[in-house]
Amino acid sequence: MKYIKTYIQENKNRFIDELIDLLKIPSISADPKYKMDVLNCADSVASSLASAGAENIEICKTKGYPIVYADKIIDDTLPTVLVYGHYDVQPADPLELWDSGPFEPIIKKTKIHPEGAIFARGACDDKGQFFMHVKAFELMMDNNTLPCNIKFMIEGEEEVGSENLGEFVVANKEKLKCDTILISDTGIISNNTPSITTGLKGLSYIEVEVTGPNRDLHSGLYGGAVANPINILCEMIASMKDEKNHISIPGFYNNVIELSSQEREEIARAPFSLNEYKEALDLSDIHGEQGFTTMERTGIRPTLDVNGIWGGYTGEGAKTVIPSKAFAKISMRLVPNQSDEEITNLFTKYFTNIAPKSVKVKVTPHHGGEPYVSPTDIISYKAASDAMLTTFGKTPVPVKAGGSIPIVALFEQELNVKSILLGFGLDSDAIHSPNEHYGIFNYLKGIETIPHFFLNFTKMFNSK
Ligand code: BES
Ligand code: MN
Ligand code: MN
Repeated sequence: MKYIKTYIQENKNRFIDELIDLLKIPSISADPKYKMDVLNCADSVASSLASAGAENIEICKTKGYPIVYADKIIDDTLPTVLVYGHYDVQPADPLELWDSGPFEPIIKKTKIHPEGAIFARGACDDKGQFFMHVKAFELMMDNNTLPCNIKFMIEGEEEVGSENLGEFVVANKEKLKCDTILISDTGIISNNTPSITTGLKGLSYIEVEVTGPNRDLHSGLYGGAVANPINILCEMIASMKDEKNHISIPGFYNNVIELSSQEREEIARAPFSLNEYKEALDLSDIHGEQGFTTMERTGIRPTLDVNGIWGGYTGEGAKTVIPSKAFAKISMRLVPNQSDEEITNLFTKYFTNIAPKSVKVKVTPHHGGEPYVSPTDIISYKAASDAMLTTFGKTPVPVKAGGSIPIVALFEQELNVKSILLGFGLDSDAIHSPNEHYGIFNYLKGIETIPHFFLNFTKMFNSK
């Protein structure tokens, strides 16, 4: 298997340059201003798959941004791996907090990435990660070692909720037929502690509007006598958690699966330093639900967070005003067996019930998704675990993630196939934040690990 390392060694500069070119395209799906760039990015993904040796390349139209499909079917009797990823990225703002342009990728060394990291929006989430699959595929094609069939589905709307992908999957079940789904859009514990993500959270995302008086008022003339919607909204949000930081929406925990002490012990075995955690975020203390560790809070407990809140006067200087309206965006991360729809309904009912008569409230649900569990006793997990053992020299730790990739639960539901979350990012890579980056070590390690997954999976599948 020496050819894997040799090929990477000989081609790594080109691998890095090609990723840098992809990162220069501002494929921000949330902002219509970037529509042409998102479309150009899809073209660029398609041509990179073509030059790597893929066939049947299609830029599949949807009501939104296109899905890039490609495959290489070598033998119908061999298993098929479907690779999923996304070429769209999060908006780059706040721009002033970037040390270099978000779409002007540069390589810089950091404490955690002594070999250098590429700084750009999408470097880790998810261009750098799905592109590892394109390069690993190229490697297998060029060395005549692709051991099974491969299909690619790279979408352009993940960061805005994959709203059109569900329909595409339902309409293309035969085209997407596969034996496992392989996704690199998550992370590892650290560069010397590999891990595989075995759970993703679901999501319920809601926007609320609270209306007080029919117009903005002088806060002296009316203050204290009419409801201030910002004050009321803050009180309502505060009443969503109790003093133990449990979420107080009635019924919220009804379907949450409590973990056995054995499962909790397993979570506690994953290496984690609270001091390093606090230090990395400049925190004197952590905060969360009583009775659970930090890893449990992020991995297995549902959460509720305000993502944005606005209203009233926020410009220069002071303006004495009671605003007519206040707004907030609130998200809840869900765990097995909570359902997006059910939690959205419970939230809506509670929020409406606790509103005093002095205000009107409006609740608007946004996109959401169901949680996902990846078992560790299936051959695709074993294939991934063995691949990491080969390339990192250590067996990876199974870890439950706090993030969401809602489409993964839908893949299971519609295609009846489990996904393997073989990501290589680090929590410190600043995804969705200013100065997002992806380690060169991680990028090349991913390209090295993926061919081992293909070899292991094919072998295990054939001897099943
Ligand atoms: N790649 C992330 C999700 C992720 C990151 C999962 C790290 C686990 C570890 C994905 O692109 C993402 O940002 N998902 C969104 C949800 C989506 C509906 C916008 C999220 O988790 O907020
Ligand atoms: Mn992602
Ligand atoms: Mn993301």
